[in-house]
Amino acid sequence: SSIENGNFQWSAPSNIALVKYWGKKDKQIPANPSISFTLNNCKTITKMAFAKKVNDGNFSFDLLFEGKPKEDFKPKIQKFFERIFEYCPYLKDFHFTIDTENTFPHSSGIASSASGMAALAMNIMSLEKVLNPVMTDEYFYQKASLLARLGSGSACRSVKGQVVVWGEHNEIAGSSNLFGVEFFGIHENFKNFQDTILLVDKGEKQVSSTVGHDLMFGHPFAEKRFDQAHENLSKIKAILENGDLEGFLKIVESEALTLHAMMMTSMPYFILMKPNTLEIINKIWKFRNETQTPVCFTLDAGANVHVLYPQNVKEKVLEFIKKELVEYCQNGQYICDEIGHGSISI
Ligand code: PMV
Repeated sequence: SSIENGNFQWSAPSNIALVKYWGKKDKQIPANPSISFTLNNCKTITKMAFAKKVNDGNFSFDLLFEGKPKEDFKPKIQKFFERIFEYCPYLKDFHFTIDTENTFPHSSGIASSASGMAALAMNIMSLEKVLNPVMTDEYFYQKASLLARLGSGSACRSVKGQVVVWGEHNEIAGSSNLFGVEFFGIHENFKNFQDTILLVDKGEKQVSSTVGHDLMFGHPFAEKRFDQAHENLSKIKAILENGDLEGFLKIVESEALTLHAMMMTSMPYFILMKPNTLEIINKIWKFRNETQTPVCFTLDAGANVHVLYPQNVKEKVLEFIKKELVEYCQNGQYICDEIGHGSISI
Protein backbone atom coordinates (compact mmCIF):
# COMPACT_ATOMS: atom_id res chain seq x y z
CA SER A 1 0.00 0.00 0.00
CA SER A 2 1.05 3.57 -0.57
CA ILE A 3 -0.13 4.61 2.85
CA GLU A 4 2.89 6.00 4.70
CA ASN A 5 1.57 7.57 7.84
CA GLY A 6 -1.43 9.07 9.55
CA ASN A 7 -3.42 8.86 12.71
CA PHE A 8 -6.80 7.91 14.11
CA GLN A 9 -8.63 8.64 17.30
CA TRP A 10 -11.42 6.67 18.95
CA SER A 11 -13.27 6.79 22.21
CA ALA A 12 -14.58 3.53 23.67
CA PRO A 13 -16.79 3.20 26.73
CA SER A 14 -16.65 0.92 29.71
CA ASN A 15 -19.51 -1.53 30.19
CA ILE A 16 -21.27 -3.09 33.15
CA ALA A 17 -22.24 -6.76 33.02
CA LEU A 18 -25.76 -7.79 34.05
CA VAL A 19 -25.00 -11.49 33.64
CA LYS A 20 -21.33 -11.89 34.47
CA TYR A 21 -18.45 -13.41 32.55
CA TRP A 22 -16.38 -15.29 35.10
CA GLY A 23 -14.33 -18.23 33.88
CA LYS A 24 -12.74 -19.14 30.56
CA LYS A 25 -12.77 -22.33 28.55
CA ASP A 26 -9.59 -21.57 26.74
CA LYS A 27 -7.66 -18.44 25.86
CA GLN A 28 -10.25 -15.66 25.75
CA ILE A 29 -13.15 -18.06 25.14
CA PRO A 30 -15.76 -17.51 27.84
CA ALA A 31 -17.03 -20.45 29.89
CA ASN A 32 -20.49 -18.86 29.86
CA PRO A 33 -22.32 -16.15 27.92
CA SER A 34 -22.64 -12.66 29.42
CA ILE A 35 -24.65 -9.52 28.71
CA SER A 36 -23.87 -5.89 29.54
CA PHE A 37 -25.07 -2.34 29.39
CA THR A 38 -22.67 -0.10 27.51
CA LEU A 39 -21.78 3.00 29.51
CA ASN A 40 -21.67 6.55 28.20
CA ASN A 41 -19.37 8.70 30.36
CA CYS A 42 -16.66 6.33 31.56
CA LYS A 43 -14.47 5.91 28.53
CA THR A 44 -10.97 5.70 27.14
CA ILE A 45 -9.86 8.02 24.35
CA THR A 46 -6.99 6.66 22.32
CA LYS A 47 -5.08 8.26 19.50
CA MET A 48 -2.95 6.02 17.33
CA ALA A 49 -0.36 7.47 14.95
CA PHE A 50 1.26 5.12 12.45
CA ALA A 51 4.36 5.47 10.28
CA LYS A 52 5.51 2.99 7.67
CA LYS A 53 8.69 1.08 8.49
CA VAL A 54 10.61 -1.82 7.00
CA ASN A 55 9.03 -5.07 8.06
CA ASP A 56 11.98 -6.63 9.86
CA GLY A 57 9.73 -9.11 11.62
CA ASN A 58 9.68 -6.95 14.74
CA PHE A 59 6.92 -4.89 16.17
CA SER A 60 7.53 -1.46 17.64
CA PHE A 61 5.42 1.14 19.39
CA ASP A 62 5.59 4.00 21.85
CA LEU A 63 3.00 4.31 24.55
CA LEU A 64 1.86 7.54 26.11
CA PHE A 65 -0.65 8.01 28.89
CA GLU A 66 -2.14 11.51 28.94
CA GLY A 67 0.67 12.58 26.63
CA LYS A 68 3.52 11.27 28.77
CA PRO A 69 5.53 8.06 28.24
CA LYS A 70 4.11 5.24 30.32
CA GLU A 71 6.40 2.24 30.48
CA ASP A 72 4.41 0.17 32.96
CA PHE A 73 1.42 -0.23 30.59
CA LYS A 74 3.66 -1.44 27.75
CA PRO A 75 3.87 -5.19 28.52
CA LYS A 76 0.08 -5.55 28.51
CA ILE A 77 -0.21 -3.78 25.14
CA GLN A 78 2.77 -5.74 23.75
CA LYS A 79 1.08 -9.00 24.74
CA PHE A 80 -2.15 -7.83 23.11
CA PHE A 81 -0.36 -7.08 19.82
CA GLU A 82 1.37 -10.46 19.90
CA ARG A 83 -2.00 -12.16 20.22
CA ILE A 84 -3.50 -10.32 17.26
CA PHE A 85 -0.62 -10.55 14.72
CA GLU A 86 -2.17 -13.64 13.17
CA TYR A 87 -5.32 -11.59 12.44
CA CYS A 88 -3.50 -8.36 11.53
CA PRO A 89 -0.13 -9.22 9.95
CA TYR A 90 0.09 -5.69 8.50
CA LEU A 91 0.84 -4.31 11.98
CA LYS A 92 4.53 -5.20 11.53
CA ASP A 93 4.78 -2.78 8.59
CA PHE A 94 4.30 0.24 10.85
CA HIS A 95 5.67 1.94 13.92
CA PHE A 96 2.89 3.13 16.25
CA THR A 97 2.57 5.91 18.77
CA ILE A 98 -0.37 5.26 21.04
CA ASP A 99 -1.60 8.05 23.27
CA THR A 100 -4.39 7.18 25.64
CA GLU A 101 -6.43 8.80 28.39
CA ASN A 102 -9.49 7.98 30.46
CA THR A 103 -12.41 10.23 31.32
CA PHE A 104 -12.56 8.72 34.80
CA PRO A 105 -9.87 9.06 37.46
CA HIS A 106 -7.00 6.64 36.91
CA SER A 107 -6.92 5.25 40.42
CA SER A 108 -10.68 5.07 40.86
CA GLY A 109 -10.80 1.29 40.97
CA ILE A 110 -12.77 1.39 37.74
CA ALA A 111 -11.15 -1.04 35.37
CA SER A 112 -10.00 0.64 32.19
CA SER A 113 -9.15 -2.61 30.44
CA ALA A 114 -12.51 -2.95 28.65
CA SER A 115 -12.61 0.63 27.36
CA GLY A 116 -8.85 0.71 26.75
CA MET A 117 -8.66 -2.48 24.72
CA ALA A 118 -11.79 -1.57 22.77
CA ALA A 119 -10.40 1.88 21.89
CA LEU A 120 -7.17 0.31 20.66
CA ALA A 121 -9.01 -2.31 18.62
CA MET A 122 -11.09 0.41 16.93
CA ASN A 123 -7.93 2.27 15.89
CA ILE A 124 -6.40 -0.90 14.48
CA MET A 125 -9.53 -1.54 12.44
CA SER A 126 -9.41 2.03 11.11
CA LEU A 127 -5.91 1.27 9.83
CA GLU A 128 -7.07 -2.02 8.33
CA LYS A 129 -9.88 -0.18 6.59
CA VAL A 130 -7.41 2.26 5.03
CA LEU A 131 -5.36 -0.69 3.78
CA ASN A 132 -8.44 -2.58 2.64
CA PRO A 133 -11.22 -0.09 1.83
CA VAL A 134 -13.63 -2.73 0.57
CA MET A 135 -14.86 -3.68 3.98
CA THR A 136 -18.43 -3.78 5.26
CA ASP A 137 -19.38 -2.05 8.49
CA GLU A 138 -20.44 -5.42 9.83
CA TYR A 139 -16.97 -6.85 9.25
CA PHE A 140 -15.36 -3.73 10.72
CA TYR A 141 -17.25 -3.88 14.02
CA GLN A 142 -17.23 -7.65 14.33
CA LYS A 143 -13.48 -7.87 13.85
CA ALA A 144 -12.96 -4.89 16.18
CA SER A 145 -14.89 -6.78 18.85
CA LEU A 146 -12.90 -9.94 18.18
CA LEU A 147 -9.60 -8.06 18.55
CA ALA A 148 -10.82 -6.27 21.68
CA ARG A 149 -11.74 -9.66 23.17
CA LEU A 150 -8.16 -10.82 22.73
CA GLY A 151 -7.02 -7.83 24.79
CA SER A 152 -9.55 -8.25 27.58
CA GLY A 153 -12.60 -10.50 27.36
CA SER A 154 -15.19 -7.98 28.46
CA ALA A 155 -13.73 -5.38 26.04
CA CYS A 156 -15.56 -7.11 23.18
CA ARG A 157 -18.78 -5.77 24.72
CA SER A 158 -17.56 -2.13 24.47
CA VAL A 159 -17.52 -1.81 20.68
CA LYS A 160 -21.06 -1.23 19.47
CA GLY A 161 -24.60 -1.25 20.85
CA GLN A 162 -26.38 -0.25 24.03
CA VAL A 163 -26.77 -3.83 25.22
CA VAL A 164 -24.27 -6.46 24.11
CA VAL A 165 -24.15 -10.25 24.44
CA TRP A 166 -20.90 -12.15 24.32
CA GLY A 167 -20.83 -15.93 24.25
CA GLU A 168 -22.87 -18.62 22.55
CA HIS A 169 -26.44 -18.90 23.77
CA ASN A 170 -29.24 -20.82 22.12
CA GLU A 171 -31.80 -18.00 22.39
CA ILE A 172 -29.58 -15.22 21.06
CA ALA A 173 -29.37 -15.37 17.29
CA GLY A 174 -25.85 -14.87 16.00
CA SER A 175 -24.27 -15.01 19.46
CA SER A 176 -20.63 -16.03 19.45
CA ASN A 177 -17.76 -16.82 21.76
CA LEU A 178 -15.50 -14.82 19.45
CA PHE A 179 -17.13 -11.37 19.54
CA GLY A 180 -19.95 -9.40 21.11
CA VAL A 181 -23.29 -9.01 19.33
CA GLU A 182 -25.70 -6.14 19.75
CA PHE A 183 -28.93 -6.97 21.55
CA PHE A 184 -31.88 -5.20 19.94
CA GLY A 185 -35.42 -4.57 21.03
CA ILE A 186 -35.01 -3.37 24.61
CA HIS A 187 -38.17 -2.12 26.30
CA GLU A 188 -38.51 1.63 26.88
CA ASN A 189 -38.21 1.06 30.66
CA PHE A 190 -34.51 0.54 29.99
CA LYS A 191 -34.12 3.60 27.78
CA ASN A 192 -31.53 5.99 29.28
CA PHE A 193 -31.01 3.58 32.17
CA GLN A 194 -28.80 5.10 34.86
CA ASP A 195 -25.65 3.73 36.49
CA THR A 196 -24.23 5.68 39.42
CA ILE A 197 -20.88 4.21 40.35
CA LEU A 198 -20.03 4.52 44.03
CA LEU A 199 -16.27 4.50 44.58
CA VAL A 200 -15.93 2.53 47.78
CA ASP A 201 -12.33 1.47 47.39
CA LYS A 202 -9.99 3.03 44.92
CA GLY A 203 -7.02 0.80 45.75
CA GLU A 204 -5.23 -1.63 43.49
CA LYS A 205 -7.25 -4.70 42.60
CA GLN A 206 -6.65 -7.57 45.01
CA VAL A 207 -7.18 -10.13 42.28
CA SER A 208 -6.55 -9.44 38.61
CA SER A 209 -9.32 -10.71 36.37
CA THR A 210 -6.83 -13.13 34.76
CA VAL A 211 -6.20 -14.76 38.13
CA GLY A 212 -9.92 -14.59 38.88
CA HIS A 213 -11.00 -16.39 35.72
CA ASP A 214 -8.39 -19.08 36.37
CA LEU A 215 -9.90 -19.74 39.79
CA MET A 216 -12.91 -21.21 37.97
CA PHE A 217 -10.76 -24.11 36.71
CA GLY A 218 -11.41 -26.92 39.17
CA HIS A 219 -13.86 -24.75 41.12
CA PRO A 220 -16.35 -27.05 42.92
CA PHE A 221 -19.38 -25.05 41.71
CA ALA A 222 -18.15 -24.13 38.23
CA GLU A 223 -20.48 -26.27 36.11
CA LYS A 224 -23.57 -25.25 38.07
CA ARG A 225 -22.56 -21.61 37.77
CA PHE A 226 -22.07 -21.83 34.01
CA ASP A 227 -25.52 -23.46 33.63
CA GLN A 228 -27.02 -20.74 35.82
CA ALA A 229 -25.52 -18.00 33.65
CA HIS A 230 -27.28 -19.53 30.61
CA GLU A 231 -30.57 -19.62 32.52
CA ASN A 232 -30.15 -16.05 33.74
CA LEU A 233 -29.38 -14.85 30.24
CA SER A 234 -32.60 -16.47 28.96
CA LYS A 235 -34.55 -14.75 31.73
CA ILE A 236 -32.95 -11.34 31.33
CA LYS A 237 -33.42 -11.47 27.57
CA ALA A 238 -37.18 -11.75 28.11
CA ILE A 239 -37.07 -9.07 30.81
CA LEU A 240 -35.17 -6.58 28.64
CA GLU A 241 -37.86 -7.11 26.00
CA ASN A 242 -40.93 -6.92 28.27
CA GLY A 243 -39.73 -4.21 30.66
CA ASP A 244 -40.18 -6.20 33.90
CA LEU A 245 -38.10 -4.09 36.30
CA GLU A 246 -38.88 -6.31 39.28
CA GLY A 247 -37.49 -9.34 37.45
CA PHE A 248 -34.53 -7.30 36.27
CA LEU A 249 -33.29 -6.30 39.68
CA LYS A 250 -33.57 -9.84 41.05
CA ILE A 251 -31.36 -11.30 38.35
CA VAL A 252 -28.87 -8.44 38.32
CA GLU A 253 -28.31 -8.52 42.09
CA SER A 254 -28.17 -12.30 42.19
CA GLU A 255 -25.53 -12.26 39.43
CA ALA A 256 -23.39 -9.76 41.35
CA LEU A 257 -23.57 -11.77 44.56
CA THR A 258 -22.91 -15.02 42.70
CA LEU A 259 -19.76 -13.54 41.14
CA HIS A 260 -18.52 -12.70 44.63
CA ALA A 261 -19.68 -16.07 45.98
CA MET A 262 -17.51 -17.75 43.34
CA MET A 263 -14.51 -15.80 44.61
CA MET A 264 -15.28 -16.64 48.22
CA THR A 265 -15.53 -20.35 47.41
CA SER A 266 -12.47 -20.75 45.19
CA MET A 267 -9.04 -21.88 46.30
CA PRO A 268 -7.37 -19.55 47.11
CA TYR A 269 -10.40 -17.54 48.25
CA PHE A 270 -11.00 -13.79 48.26
CA ILE A 271 -13.41 -11.34 49.76
CA LEU A 272 -13.46 -8.34 47.46
CA MET A 273 -16.32 -6.50 49.11
CA LYS A 274 -15.51 -3.99 51.83
CA PRO A 275 -17.65 -3.26 54.88
CA ASN A 276 -18.95 -0.16 53.07
CA THR A 277 -20.01 -2.30 50.09
CA LEU A 278 -22.35 -4.20 52.43
CA GLU A 279 -23.55 -1.01 54.11
CA ILE A 280 -24.52 0.34 50.69
CA ILE A 281 -26.27 -2.88 49.64
CA ASN A 282 -28.33 -2.90 52.83
CA LYS A 283 -29.26 0.75 52.40
CA ILE A 284 -30.37 0.13 48.83
CA TRP A 285 -32.58 -2.75 49.97
CA LYS A 286 -34.09 -0.67 52.75
CA PHE A 287 -34.77 2.25 50.38
CA ARG A 288 -36.31 -0.11 47.83
CA ASN A 289 -38.58 -1.71 50.42
CA GLU A 290 -39.71 1.57 51.87
CA THR A 291 -40.22 3.49 48.64
CA GLN A 292 -40.93 0.75 46.08
CA THR A 293 -38.37 2.40 43.78
CA PRO A 294 -36.95 0.04 41.13
CA VAL A 295 -33.29 0.50 42.03
CA CYS A 296 -30.69 -2.24 42.35
CA PHE A 297 -26.94 -2.76 42.62
CA THR A 298 -24.35 -4.70 40.75
CA LEU A 299 -20.66 -5.29 41.39
CA ASP A 300 -17.56 -6.03 39.37
CA ALA A 301 -14.63 -7.97 40.76
CA GLY A 302 -14.07 -5.28 43.39
CA ALA A 303 -15.65 -3.25 46.17
CA ASN A 304 -17.26 -0.46 44.14
CA VAL A 305 -21.03 -0.50 43.76
CA HIS A 306 -22.93 0.25 40.55
CA VAL A 307 -26.41 1.56 41.33
CA LEU A 308 -28.79 0.86 38.43
CA TYR A 309 -32.19 2.52 37.97
CA PRO A 310 -34.53 3.87 35.28
CA GLN A 311 -34.32 7.50 34.20
CA ASN A 312 -37.77 8.41 35.55
CA VAL A 313 -36.65 7.91 39.16
CA LYS A 314 -33.31 9.66 38.70
CA GLU A 315 -34.04 12.66 40.91
CA LYS A 316 -35.35 10.54 43.77
CA VAL A 317 -32.48 8.04 43.62
CA LEU A 318 -29.77 10.71 43.36
CA GLU A 319 -31.24 12.43 46.39
CA PHE A 320 -31.12 9.11 48.28
CA ILE A 321 -27.53 8.48 47.11
CA LYS A 322 -26.38 11.91 48.27
CA LYS A 323 -28.17 11.65 51.58
CA GLU A 324 -27.42 8.04 52.49
CA LEU A 325 -24.73 6.44 50.36
CA VAL A 326 -22.06 9.08 49.66
CA GLU A 327 -20.76 8.76 53.22
CA TYR A 328 -19.62 5.21 52.38
CA CYS A 329 -17.65 6.32 49.30
CA GLN A 330 -13.93 7.02 49.48
CA ASN A 331 -13.58 10.81 49.66
CA GLY A 332 -17.30 10.96 48.90
CA GLN A 333 -16.62 10.13 45.26
CA TYR A 334 -19.15 8.75 42.81
CA ILE A 335 -19.62 8.89 39.03
CA CYS A 336 -22.94 9.42 37.27
CA ASP A 337 -23.20 7.38 34.13
CA GLU A 338 -25.93 5.99 31.91
CA ILE A 339 -26.41 3.57 29.08
CA GLY A 340 -24.49 4.56 25.94
CA HIS A 341 -24.01 3.45 22.35
CA GLY A 342 -20.44 2.23 22.01
CA SER A 343 -17.24 3.42 20.40
CA ILE A 344 -17.00 6.63 18.41
CA SER A 345 -14.40 7.82 15.91
CA ILE A 346 -13.33 11.37 16.84
O1 PMV B 1 -12.65 -8.79 30.80
P1 PMV B 1 -12.00 -9.26 32.07
O2 PMV B 1 -11.06 -10.41 31.83
O3 PMV B 1 -11.35 -8.13 32.81
O4 PMV B 1 -13.14 -9.84 33.02
C1 PMV B 1 -14.24 -9.08 33.47
C2 PMV B 1 -14.96 -9.79 34.56
C3 PMV B 1 -16.12 -9.06 35.22
O5 PMV B 1 -16.00 -7.67 35.07
C4 PMV B 1 -16.07 -9.37 36.71
C5 PMV B 1 -17.46 -9.54 34.69
C6 PMV B 1 -17.87 -9.04 33.34
O6 PMV B 1 -18.59 -9.80 32.67
O7 PMV B 1 -17.52 -7.91 32.95
